[in-house]
Amino acid sequence: MLEWIPELNWMRSILTLLLTSIFLLYWYTRIPTSMPRNIPTVPIYISLLGLWSDMGQDTIYDRWLRAPLEKHGAVKIWFAGRWNVLATRPQFLVDMFRHEDVYAKAGSQKKIPWSVIAALVGDNIINSHGETWRLFTSIMKPGLQRRITDSGPLLEKSRTFVDVLLEEQGRLGDGGGVLVNPIIQRWALSCMGISFMNIDLEALERPGQRLEELQTIIKKTLFKPLFFNFPDLDRYPSIFRQRKAAFAIMQEFGDLLCSTVRQRSANHSTNTKTPNPDGDQVVDYLDRALQENRITEEQYRANIKVTFLTAHENAQQLLNSTFWVLGTNTRIQEKLRAEILATGIEHPSTDLVNSLPYLFAVILELLRLYPPVSQLINRVTTAPATLGGEISIPDHTWVGWNAFGVHTDPNIWGADARQFIPERWGSDVKSIQGTMRSRTTQCHFIAFNAHSRKCLGQGFAVLQMKVLLFEMVRKIEWVVDPGYELKLTSGGIMAPLGLRAIVREREVCLKEGD
Ligand code: HEM
Repeated sequence: MLEWIPELNWMRSILTLLLTSIFLLYWYTRIPTSMPRNIPTVPIYISLLGLWSDMGQDTIYDRWLRAPLEKHGAVKIWFAGRWNVLATRPQFLVDMFRHEDVYAKAGSQKKIPWSVIAALVGDNIINSHGETWRLFTSIMKPGLQRRITDSGPLLEKSRTFVDVLLEEQGRLGDGGGVLVNPIIQRWALSCMGISFMNIDLEALERPGQRLEELQTIIKKTLFKPLFFNFPDLDRYPSIFRQRKAAFAIMQEFGDLLCSTVRQRSANHSTNTKTPNPDGDQVVDYLDRALQENRITEEQYRANIKVTFLTAHENAQQLLNSTFWVLGTNTRIQEKLRAEILATGIEHPSTDLVNSLPYLFAVILELLRLYPPVSQLINRVTTAPATLGGEISIPDHTWVGWNAFGVHTDPNIWGADARQFIPERWGSDVKSIQGTMRSRTTQCHFIAFNAHSRKCLGQGFAVLQMKVLLFEMVRKIEWVVDPGYELKLTSGGIMAPLGLRAIVREREVCLKEGD
């Protein structure tokens, strides 16, 4: 009888839809019963905060993750559409990083192969496992770890970077600080190009090129919180039109990058500045491997793209943090300047920058407090495992780590863990290297990861920063714009957002220039 009352029918439909949605959401986000019970669970809404708030990842960590992680060493956390185990206790990390057979690398191409991020990175040297990884490493390692004896090309890019900063400050006058990130990105792209792609992209000299524009778009697209947390939505690009556009951008980037590097031999004749002082670069090794059919075209593209991305993005964000730390802590900037000026040298060689202890220690301390790769969950158990002999993890569970948490844990770094103290690393290059090595082996310092899958570009990254800082500190002084309030990125790569710095040329350099 009631069936005939239209309002009731309508309400029943709404109620059914609502209950079905609630049930589906519950089913999608429920914690599998097989997940470890002896570690706490971070409530799911913490992972979803990005949907309605732009809180920085340091704040999120301090409020909701620090206490359980410092107490239990690991937590269950929602990330990329599933529940994962996230660890920070060094004993758990040593186990995870030393047993790559059990905690196997499995990046987005394995976890969410249909997604935009998987379309971007593919199966590459960073996220592959086993035979494939060994093949990629055998091809690329000589290029990634080639010894750079000539600091000239990096120095030239550092000088252009400083000139562009000063030009921009000149244009602004007293109207505030320079927005540093876009200029930093151009510096990072240039250094990456001349060091790994064997091509001078001239990103500093010719701003606004499409490859540079695409980087800005890609970084914004990848970390969209809705799709980051619910990557299943990427399965439906016809419903979510912005994801259709995102797939197109990833394709455009891959095509443009590969055609650019393939044209480099032709460019060499017209671009005499392109340096290749220290032998073949990664791109040359990859070219040969493709010609010899050791890798497929798809593998070639994935590795070119990941080298391009990783070799510029991490340095870019580390330099943003450098502007913040040294621009608010001018005493440290001054101390660094004193060390650099004491050399009396304007054109430092690789050996010279490598001989400066404070410069090295400042860079390590930056990496400790502002690790660009602050969190990664890209390993999967290949069998039931017991992490650190304490946490039972079922087969096929994703596990990961949080470097910011490890590096700021007072149980590991002492009561002053949150303070920027370069001296903690040592006072001479040898002791600093020793501290870095032992802290890395113990997984107290994991900015470059540790053990079998540690960063292969680490040597280059530190050298590039040394050369740049040498030139910056010698030539300019900077402070953070007083109107700028620190906000770190809310997820993904860690760095200050939208930092503005007031830059001026040092008096002495001005006089020398006259
Ligand atoms: C400040 C700069 C850098 C930081 C903080 C950094 C950090 C890292 C981290 C944390 C990993 C481990 C990733 C994982 O566990 O999945 C890694 C791996 C890697 N990085 Fe870097 N990286 C930097 C610069 C570079 C540069 C310049 C290159 C050169 C292309 C590079 C190439 C690689 C490669 C090839 C791997 C994979 C190693 C393997 O799995 O065998 N990185 N890096």
